[in-house]
Amino acid sequence: MSKITVVGAGFVGATAAQRLAEKNLGDVVLHDIVPGMPQGKALDMVQSACIEGFESTVTGTNDPADYKDSDIVIITSGLARQPGMSRDDLLLKNAEIVGGVAENVKKYAPNAIVIVVSNPLDVMTALVAKKTGFPKERVMGMAGVLDSARFRAFIAMELGVAYQDVNAMVLGGHGDDMVPLSRYTTVNGISIEALLPKEKIAALADRTRNGGAEIVKLLQKGSAYYAPSASAVQMAQSILRDEKRVLPVAAWCTGEYGIKNQYVGVPVILGAKGVEKVIALDLTADELKSLQASAAHVADSVAKLNL
Ligand SMILES: NC(=O)c1ccc[n+]([C@@H]2O[C@H](COP(=O)([O-])OP(=O)(O)OC[C@H]3O[C@@H](n4cnc5c(N)ncnc54)[C@H](O)[C@@H]3O)[C@@H](O)[C@H]2O)c1
Repeated sequence: MSKITVVGAGFVGATAAQRLAEKNLGDVVLHDIVPGMPQGKALDMVQSACIEGFESTVTGTNDPADYKDSDIVIITSGLARQPGMSRDDLLLKNAEIVGGVAENVKKYAPNAIVIVVSNPLDVMTALVAKKTGFPKERVMGMAGVLDSARFRAFIAMELGVAYQDVNAMVLGGHGDDMVPLSRYTTVNGISIEALLPKEKIAALADRTRNGGAEIVKLLQKGSAYYAPSASAVQMAQSILRDEKRVLPVAAWCTGEYGIKNQYVGVPVILGAKGVEKVIALDLTADELKSLQASAAHVADSVAKLNL
């Protein structure tokens, strides 16, 4: 069995642990700083194994030494947004938390592939890459899978078609300036531009950009976690099973799209080595401009951390 460590046993982390176990993707270690909490949640999940029929073990811990020999570490520790907060508002506090976690990952799980979930996502991913010093293909962030899933869901609901028939690409940073690409969005191969009027697509793209805030406002406390955990687990599965899924991921760009030496959401091939290739799509001048503007916003936030 592979070993997967989930750091942060809050809403996203605990739900990710449950999904990983139920899919038998590996033995799961769930770590949090709150005494007893990850142990309690892990025990609860283990007691569901005979009902759900999974073989994965789930172990709760407060000790980062238990990251040892992890194949994958998913980092979800940190504060979540409250109503009225942007993801950027979390920057300094989460940098402290995630920076400390990254040092422990480097120490205890030097061969792991790391999937960052904590916000602000692209900046936290850059921070983890810097603190661990891991090769860039082994450090990535989860945002594009979630943002694309939101766009896909809104399109499926609008058209009254099966969710799984809608494919979408949302690129850029995980912020208000993310870039939903309608030209690369299809319903079983049919461009949505042939199925929906321009204004409707623009409205759905806008709802996608505000998809996280819409949920934060409804919940009134905390932020989304069902779709975020599913997104992180889909990435982990593609790596663990070497599926080579083509997914939008916050990945290190080395000149693709005119973006150099920074993390931002782009389509990649995800396999056993981590990010195995960044796919350079043919973008229109407007699409490219939006993606580069989004990347510039990420670069500004990274600069605030003086990495
Ligand atoms: N990338 C995305 O698309 C996306 C989507 C949803 C949430 N998020 C982010 O994920 C993070 C977690 O969200 P949540 O809803 O699970 O929050 P949460 O508050 O429910 O859970 C966070 C957990 O992290 C723990 N923690 C804090 N410091 C720690 C440390 N040093 N080591 C281990 N654990 C520590 C806390 O005790 C808490 O249990 C937030 O930053 C949120 O903004 C990102």
